[in-house]
Amino acid sequence: MALEKTFSIIKPDAVASNYAGNILAMIEEAGLRIIAAKMLHMTEKHTEGLYEEHKERPFYASLAGYMTSGPVIVMVLEGDEAVSTLRKIMGATTPKDAEDGTIRNLYAEKEFEDGALENAIHGSDSLKSAEREIGIFFNPDEICPRTR
Ligand code: RTP
Ligand code: MG
Repeated sequence: MALEKTFSIIKPDAVASNYAGNILAMIEEAGLRIIAAKMLHMTEKHTEGLYEEHKERPFYASLAGYMTSGPVIVMVLEGDEAVSTLRKIMGATTPKDAEDGTIRNLYAEKEFEDGALENAIHGSDSLKSAEREIGIFFNPDEICPRTR
């Protein structure tokens, strides 16, 4: 098992619905340790940096509107296989397809009349993405390796 760091965001819908605590509990129960965390209201620049691979996609404008619609909690998580562990407990991108018991199954709205896609949580898709995404939101001195 490899010790990894990953990056996560509790997205605006989940913060607004007061699900942050439940989501953090699931993260901790999965064995991941929070080693950095803060609340902020994402800017357009944050969104562009985070989702650079989606910039040309048709859904980018609605994604940017969503991510800047309210405050979020950004985090660095550490643990064995942290990238895949987090992705597993998040569930599928589209909440109605997310496996039972996953964060997106439990804490994301499943149907929007206008077809919007709000899905409660972000998690890096690879170690390389994690490193890049952590750098967008955190200075090195904001990361707090566990000493106990
Ligand atoms: P994330 O990056 O947020 O962890 O989500 P993901 O890997 O599961 O999905 P990804 O393909 O990276 O998409 C990023 C986010 O864009 C929004 N999205 N909307 N309307 C649409 O068709 C659509 N597709 C994606 C979602 O918020 C998704 O999490
Ligand atoms: Mg993604």
